[in-house]
Amino acid sequence: MRTRARFGNLVAHLKGAAPGSRGSSITDRDEYQSFCQRAATDDAVFARFRRAPVYVDTLEHVTREQGAAYIEAIRRDSPDLLTDPARLYHVNDKLGTPLLYEYEATGPVSPVTLRYLKVVSDLRLLFGDLSRLDIVEIGVGYGGQCRLITQYWPVGSYTLIDLAPALALARRYLSGLATDAELRFEAPDQVQAGSYDLCISNYAFSELTKPVQQSYADAVVSRSERGYMTCNFVSDIFKIESMDRAELTALHAGTRWLPEEPLTHPKNSVLVWGTRDPA
Ligand SMILES: C[S@@+](CC[C@H](N)C(=O)[O-])C[C@H]1O[C@@H](n2cnc3c(N)ncnc32)[C@H](O)[C@@H]1O
Repeated sequence: MRTRARFGNLVAHLKGAAPGSRGSSITDRDEYQSFCQRAATDDAVFARFRRAPVYVDTLEHVTREQGAAYIEAIRRDSPDLLTDPARLYHVNDKLGTPLLYEYEATGPVSPVTLRYLKVVSDLRLLFGDLSRLDIVEIGVGYGGQCRLITQYWPVGSYTLIDLAPALALARRYLSGLATDAELRFEAPDQVQAGSYDLCISNYAFSELTKPVQQSYADAVVSRSERGYMTCNFVSDIFKIESMDRAELTALHAGTRWLPEEPLTHPKNSVLVWGTRDPA
């Protein structure tokens, strides 16, 4: 059961931010935010948002080769996800006109969807059945990871935390695809402190400025029994100071690092805690 309390002290920290940045993370940029807002409100933009250069730049940039490597990892760990005749993951490619590649195991599919499917496979191996869990995700993109997780498990609730325009896009995307899950949307200034069963953040928490990370850590991360966060260490390129590996390790008791598979950047790795097999 999730407990909630008001937590509204997140602020933008503009000092040292790159041009066009509003300061809370490497993706908190005017161009990206205004595109998300347009995609959320303009039918023509929404229809092809997964092809727009600013969006591809931010999160639709998984390559054909990386897609093939995700398939190999899924085949090794969770072959049933690929052989299941229902191929539930295809639902994630129905909106926004993503770039699809043809793979023998899947038919035409977006490699970004394969990345989200690999996370589904990892979550199942690490945590087992996610049914009825209260899940929170920080930095959700358009909600693709949420879409796949709620496709595979009847979760208790799924809370999406992101910048307001990104959330508007995620709300539109998710409302276009039927789901029974209880979805909650929280912009940075609406984040509620609460206990969750599982906290997810891929290529997102690690891109935030330290004060914003600390706020989410206090409100959400430290209160989550289980965690799965794919961390990249590229913030300095964008003149942003984010937590280093040691600070991320200290976010929660019992954290450990797993390799990102496939490795999409030399320094990437996955921070987990609360797994069912800590070996
Ligand atoms: C590189 S994208 C990753 C998206 C998604 N997790 C994925 O794996 O496709 C980074 C995400 O962080 C979000 N973000 C940026 N600043 C944020 C902030 N201050 N609070 C929450 N999310 C933020 C962006 O809007 C975007 O959704």
